[in-house]
Amino acid sequence: MNTITLDISNIFPERTGKEGLDKTMLHKTISALDEYNKSLAQSPYPFMKLPETRFQFNDMKDLAEKIKRRGIKNLVLLGIGGSSLGTETIFHALLHPFHNYDKASRGKRPRYFIVDNIDPHKINAIIEIIEPEIEKTLLVVISKSGGTPETISQFMTFKKIMEKRDGFRERIVLITDKDKGLLNKIAQKEGYTVLNVPEGVGGRFSVLTPVGIFPAAMMGLNIDDIMDGAQAMSSHISGAIGVENMALAIAGILYHMDKNGKSIHVVMPYCERLSGFADWFRQLEAESLGKGGFGPTPTKSVGVTDQHSQLQLYVDGPKDKCIMLLYSAQDTRPIPDSFPYLDDTAYLAGKDMKDLFHAEFQGTRLSLTEAKTPNFTFFLEDINGYTMGALFYLFEMVTVYLGQLYKVDAFDQPGVEQGKIYTKTIMGEKGLEAEQTKIEALLSAPKTIITFS
Ligand code: PA5
Repeated sequence: MNTITLDISNIFPERTGKEGLDKTMLHKTISALDEYNKSLAQSPYPFMKLPETRFQFNDMKDLAEKIKRRGIKNLVLLGIGGSSLGTETIFHALLHPFHNYDKASRGKRPRYFIVDNIDPHKINAIIEIIEPEIEKTLLVVISKSGGTPETISQFMTFKKIMEKRDGFRERIVLITDKDKGLLNKIAQKEGYTVLNVPEGVGGRFSVLTPVGIFPAAMMGLNIDDIMDGAQAMSSHISGAIGVENMALAIAGILYHMDKNGKSIHVVMPYCERLSGFADWFRQLEAESLGKGGFGPTPTKSVGVTDQHSQLQLYVDGPKDKCIMLLYSAQDTRPIPDSFPYLDDTAYLAGKDMKDLFHAEFQGTRLSLTEAKTPNFTFFLEDINGYTMGALFYLFEMVTVYLGQLYKVDAFDQPGVEQGKIYTKTIMGEKGLEAEQTKIEALLSAPKTIITFS
């Protein structure tokens, strides 16, 4: 039920010729990572302890139950990057694809709105929808630093709407660092409930903290299942040696692919429910490894949709990509013989959509391999809390190993931080006057402009 199998046959030269990876080289890298793995067991990064410690688990369960008893109809989540992508991934994988529209499958669970942008067009639309039910709306504000301008401005906006109804303080939950940052300051002054991001756990490694787990609890998802899956994956990773270790194998493959000129890492789930996971992975790999002029470029495709958008490039374009496929067969749907007088549809009539989906997935693997585009596949027996927890933990660890191989700090994001400083300067934050001069010089440089009207 919960098995995850990895097939890496199509990355080796027997299948993909000179584009493939030399087995000996790969095994050597994985052996070196084995040593690193032992040292990690002695001094784990804080996120690695989460599956076992289950940080603030009981607090989250109690709070979710208490809030649900008030009959919450809308969950509005404010946050960006690592503060929202984990929840999006969980909801995408584990809730009905049309959760907000389908009352029957939603049951008593609230609709959800993940406000991961500040484009007023989207903000206005969400406000229009929730305002008539504002007394039945829960606002969850997530920011590890507590000071991200996007999230703070969203909070400022939504708070004004929330406070139109009595008891609004009970319907606002903040998730942030234990002591530092603006959100703590606001919470102390205004008396909101606060859950924390544990010390040393950064945004994109925080899905297994209240950041991803509290919204899941609010939706009535089984949060123990998610952590059980993560914990089982943690045991696998700390126990398995060499290429038998899924995390070490993937890290070794992705690293050598990049070094072999395949710096574009395509994540291509054949499973709609994992489409959010591809976004989550894209951020994790890009923000953790894109440093000092190096780093792979992760990109997302969804099967079968993107067969008719990207596959031509993957098969016939430059040999600068490796493809990571994830396959999970979900549900069945018979294809009826609706046109019995047509020979052209006979090969589909009476079959199942699931079989066609599988045939297309196989067709993609075969054509990629025949074109010598290295590819490997995860087969997931099921998509549930357990397998999602396992996947989250697996790829967080893959990123740690990749950080070690690239010799970069996988936990910082200096490029993102600089953008935040420029934004605050342009918006007139005090104390950033020195940046102002720099920005003015950059903005007044000669422009090349082409106009159409
Ligand atoms: O992974 C990260 O650290 C970032 O993507 C952050 O999550 C993002 O910048 C938002 O930061 P914060 O949670 O501090 O608001």
